[in-house]
Amino acid sequence: MTPPPEIERVLFTEEQIAARIREVAAGISERYRGRSLKLIGVLKGSVFFLTALARELTIPVKIDFLGISSFTDSARGSGMVRIAKDLDDPIEGEDVLLVEDIVDTGLTSRYLLQTLAGRSPNSLGICTLLDRTPRRLVQVPIEFRCFEIPDRFVVGFGLDYKQLYRHLRYIAVMHPDKGKGLA
Ligand code: PRP
Repeated sequence: MTPPPEIERVLFTEEQIAARIREVAAGISERYRGRSLKLIGVLKGSVFFLTALARELTIPVKIDFLGISSFTDSARGSGMVRIAKDLDDPIEGEDVLLVEDIVDTGLTSRYLLQTLAGRSPNSLGICTLLDRTPRRLVQVPIEFRCFEIPDRFVVGFGLDYKQLYRHLRYIAVMHPDKGKGLA
């Protein structure tokens, strides 16, 4: 597939992503061996990663989804996130992995960890496709990550620019003059 002109370069190919997800899934299957695991996807970005990850797991898996309101620029940094679509089912007593496409400032993950911890899961962790550590504002424990990335705006494999490009099979860097004013 020829990348669109807004794309500067491919950061991770389809093959690299698939291989890394297989590795991470093997680690997760080992960690939770003998138990079942509930994957909770944070809409919308995590959908592609969650489905790819779930298919590689060798333990019993359940899935559920959370929808959250996006930060406005003025609210960004406050750490306040509103749950717009709650889980369908309780998580009490379950082993839960929160599945993210990217952890950036960490504010979303911190809020969701705090909220979900109040629902008494047996265990609760984070698994993210991308970890953009240069933009971290608050520390959050990340049990499983596929890739660390630099402070560049990326799209593909669930990540969007103005809701576009989520469907790309690869992860790519946008040209610097595109996207949310990031470098
Ligand atoms: C992204 C991502 C995380 C959040 C991470 O969601 O899916 O939920 O941002 O950012 P943070 O670490 O700075 O809090 P986004 O708001 O882009 O929505 P989307 O998943 O629908 O694209």
